[in-house]
Amino acid sequence: MSGSMTKPLLRIENLSLRREDYEVLRRVNLAVQPGEVHGLLGLNGSGKSSLAYTVMGCAGYTPNEGTIWFAGQDITRLSITERARLGLTLGWQEPARFEGLPVGAYLALGANDADPARLAAALEAVALPPAVYLKRPLNHALSGGERKRIELAAVFAMRPKLAILDEPDSGVDTLTLGDIAALIRRMAGQGSAVLLITHRDEMLTVADSALLMCHGSIVFSGNPDETRSFYGRHCRPHAEVLGTQPWSEAERLRLAAEMAGRR
Ligand SMILES: Nc1ncnc2c1ncn2[C@@H]1O[C@H](COP(=O)(O)OP(=O)(O)OP(=O)(O)O)[C@@H](O)[C@H]1O
Ligand SMILES: [Mg+2]
Repeated sequence: MSGSMTKPLLRIENLSLRREDYEVLRRVNLAVQPGEVHGLLGLNGSGKSSLAYTVMGCAGYTPNEGTIWFAGQDITRLSITERARLGLTLGWQEPARFEGLPVGAYLALGANDADPARLAAALEAVALPPAVYLKRPLNHALSGGERKRIELAAVFAMRPKLAILDEPDSGVDTLTLGDIAALIRRMAGQGSAVLLITHRDEMLTVADSALLMCHGSIVFSGNPDETRSFYGRHCRPHAEVLGTQPWSEAERLRLAAEMAGRR
């Protein structure tokens, strides 16, 4: 990450997204460098998840204008599977369930080699004992926090070029902010860049740089401290905007399976 000459891994230019007459994203520009942890901070409903879905290429999130470059290639019109093959993945804000699939098999889906030691290490990284969890089926018997941690373990095992983590700390109260930060640093340490989406400004302490999103626009970009301070001074929660989960469980399952199709 030396200087401004580094070629960005992800570059977004003038990205706009309209959904049913609502301007969800407004001329968003950003760049994530290889191996970097880039924070994206914003209040509920500011458009963070929508940006993640648009970058990933999810159905219903085709931009009205703008270009998405990944590893030097224009991916704006590629399918979710093609993007995943290039090394792009998304850890969902609320992970889907794969009814009945054992956790170990789920982790192996996206990992390039299904080395059991690596799958076990991924579970250990999210403080789930592998001996207990590798064989457990992914179903309703798992708590929301357990599913979220398995989701993070899957991203860790996958070692993507870029991991977009949508609110990795939400719903996992057994992991402290420090645990999540350590996990993100380990992801970066094994060569993944991370786009870290959060509405908690404390989370930015793990980031190398950070953006602030408000009403679908990037309103501030700087180092994590500057961004936190700007956020503290200018951002107020407002009641009229609330986040949405746009897909049914069945649809999200299909999308997650597609994302795992890169191997
Ligand atoms: N089809 C649609 N019609 C109208 N508004 C929409 C539509 N899709 C998304 N929105 C709005 O776009 C905004 C951005 O939603 P998004 O889920 O991206 O926010 P977020 O920043 O991820 O919020 P959170 O922190 O709650 O997860 C919300 O206000 C949402 O209601
Ligand atoms: Mg969201």
